[in-house]
Amino acid sequence: MQDFMQFLRTRRTYRRFKQTPVPAAVVDDILEAARIASCGANRQTLKYLVVQSPEQVKTVNGLVHWAAYLPPEQGTPKPEECPTLFIAVFQDDALPGANDTDAGLALGSMTAAAWSHGVGSCIMGAIDRPALCNLFGTASSLRLHSMVAFGYPAHESRVVEMHDGDVRYYLDDARDYCVPKRPLSEILLGRI
Ligand SMILES: Cc1cc2nc3c(=O)[nH]c(=O)nc-3n(C[C@H](O)[C@H](O)[C@H](O)COP(=O)(O)O)c2cc1C
Repeated sequence: MQDFMQFLRTRRTYRRFKQTPVPAAVVDDILEAARIASCGANRQTLKYLVVQSPEQVKTVNGLVHWAAYLPPEQGTPKPEECPTLFIAVFQDDALPGANDTDAGLALGSMTAAAWSHGVGSCIMGAIDRPALCNLFGTASSLRLHSMVAFGYPAHESRVVEMHDGDVRYYLDDARDYCVPKRPLSEILLGRI
C-alpha cells in the first residue's frame, strides 16, 4: 500500500467513473470493513444493501443529488461517467443505540477499503430517502442513513489551499476536483 498519509490525501470524493465493474472481492472487502468498524458499546446497529445490477444502479443514480456546489453540467456524472455500484447504509431502529458517529466510522472504513483497491467513492446524504426505501422494499425499522457511490475514478481530486474561507470545491481546467481545506493554523486551537 502507498504511504498512509498519501493514501489519506488521495482518498477524496470522486464523482465521475470509468464503466469498469467493481470486482466482487472488492465489494466483499468494503462490507468486511463496515462489519468490523468500531461502534458505540459494540452495538452494531448498521445494515447494508448492495446495489450492483446496472439497471438498479441506474435507477438509484436518478434518486441521488450530486455536487451541490457545481452546476449539473459540471458536477453530475453523465451516463457514461456514472458509478457502477452503490451501497445503502441503514440504521436499524429495531436495535438500541443507533448513532451518527457509528455511521460515520463505517462510511470512513468502507470508503478507505475501496480506495485501497483504487476504487473511488462519494458518500451521499442528499438522497430521496422515501423513493429509495420504496425501491429497496426495506422494513420501516430500517432508516436509510446514506448512499455511497463507488467506481474506478475517471478524474483526479486534490486538496488545495482555501481562500477567504470559501469551502466550495471546484473543477480545474482538466475537470479535476479541487477541494479547499482550512489551514492547520485555523483549526488547531493550541497544544497544551
Ligand atoms: C455526510 C456527507 C454527505 C455527503 N453528501 C453528498 C451528496 O449528497 N452529494 C455529493 O455529491 N457529495 C456528497 N458528499 C461529499 C462531500 O461533498 C465531500 O466530502 C466534500 O466536498 C469534501 O470533499 P472530499 O471528500 O474530497 O474531502 C457528502 C459527504 C459527506 C461526508
